[in-house]
Amino acid sequence: MVKVAVIGGTGYAGAELVRVLSGHPHVELTMITSRRYEGRPFSDIYPAMAGIVNLTCRAFSEEAVSKSADVVFTALPHEISMGVVPGLIDQGKKVIDLSADFRFKDPALYEAWYEPHQAKELLKTAVYGLPELHFNDIQKASLVGNPGCYPTSVLLPLMPLIKAPFIDPDTIIADSKSGTSGAGRSVSLTTHFCEVNEAFKAYNVAAHRHNPEMDEVLSLFAGRTIHITFTPHLVPITRGMLTTIYVGLKEDVSTRDVASFLDSFYADKPFVRICPMSRFPNTMYVRGTNYCDIGFHVAERTKRLILISAIDNLVKGASGQAVQNMNIMLGFAETAGLDQPPFPL
Ligand SMILES: NC(=O)c1ccc[n+]([C@@H]2O[C@H](COP(=O)([O-])OP(=O)(O)OC[C@H]3O[C@@H](n4cnc5c(N)ncnc54)[C@H](OP(=O)(O)O)[C@@H]3O)[C@@H](O)[C@H]2O)c1
Repeated sequence: MVKVAVIGGTGYAGAELVRVLSGHPHVELTMITSRRYEGRPFSDIYPAMAGIVNLTCRAFSEEAVSKSADVVFTALPHEISMGVVPGLIDQGKKVIDLSADFRFKDPALYEAWYEPHQAKELLKTAVYGLPELHFNDIQKASLVGNPGCYPTSVLLPLMPLIKAPFIDPDTIIADSKSGTSGAGRSVSLTTHFCEVNEAFKAYNVAAHRHNPEMDEVLSLFAGRTIHITFTPHLVPITRGMLTTIYVGLKEDVSTRDVASFLDSFYADKPFVRICPMSRFPNTMYVRGTNYCDIGFHVAERTKRLILISAIDNLVKGASGQAVQNMNIMLGFAETAGLDQPPFPL
């Protein structure tokens, strides 16, 4: 059994990590850290885990974490992660960071959208943890920057097609809707019940921090600069993310042709499900799972390809993908601990 710690384990992404890891066949969860809940049983904070997780939350200390674990998940806010991760790497730990701090290759791009980077050297060796794109690099990595939820939902449908001759990469518009757990557990007016219930709104229009992340990954993969027009929305559901992408077509292409690009790219990828033509993804079908469902349609009248993806923002958009990355880093089956069947409704 591999010993694993979750830093920031009482936030939404951290708690979801605790859930997934507690059912993992090759892992022993040895430590959960929290400042606010130090000394309190994890099951006091999340009573659903009573009888399943018997750990008490502890304050973070590099020494204690290093003694307790070989693999460390950091589920902390950006800026905080980059203060914690370098010490853990120096101690020889494998680290999967869920914040934005180790997702960027270009430190200047990170600094333009976030804050000064305190561990730039590590960006050279950190691997962007999208397993469907970087499987081989993840196998060798000591530090994985786990992708953002919106980028995961945008990149997975686009990657198989971005180099196709019929796609116009300068015309991509992505429109995403996220459940409110995407904003984390801290209390804020924007996620207050009365502000989100029976409401549906756009926010950070063309200015969301996940936009440069998707642009950088797609540009490196496509070998040319790509800028996506991206608008996120908040919907009154707890978990789930639905993304609709519109791409201009340079040549006539059939829905069947698009299907064959998607099918062949994802033929051996266990967590991407391509929907049959004329069935479209629904957040309900991926709830609590590590799946990304992808649907597609060619709008012949307007010469646009429409791609639709659904993920659970807390699983494939965060903690499930982080465990998938750990599985790959440690040579376990990619699906270990992540293979529970979805709820049918
Ligand atoms: N929610 C999602 O759907 C999602 C998806 C993808 C990625 N992520 C990323 O995952 C990370 C965690 O997100 P979240 O949604 O779980 O946030 P959250 O619910 O606000 O949890 C944040 C966690 O970090 C700890 N923390 C906060 N400030 C800290 C500080 N200054 N020093 C040390 N610990 C601190 C908190 O616990 P204490 O205050 O008790 O220490 C808590 O456990 C973020 O970087 C986020 O961008 C989240």
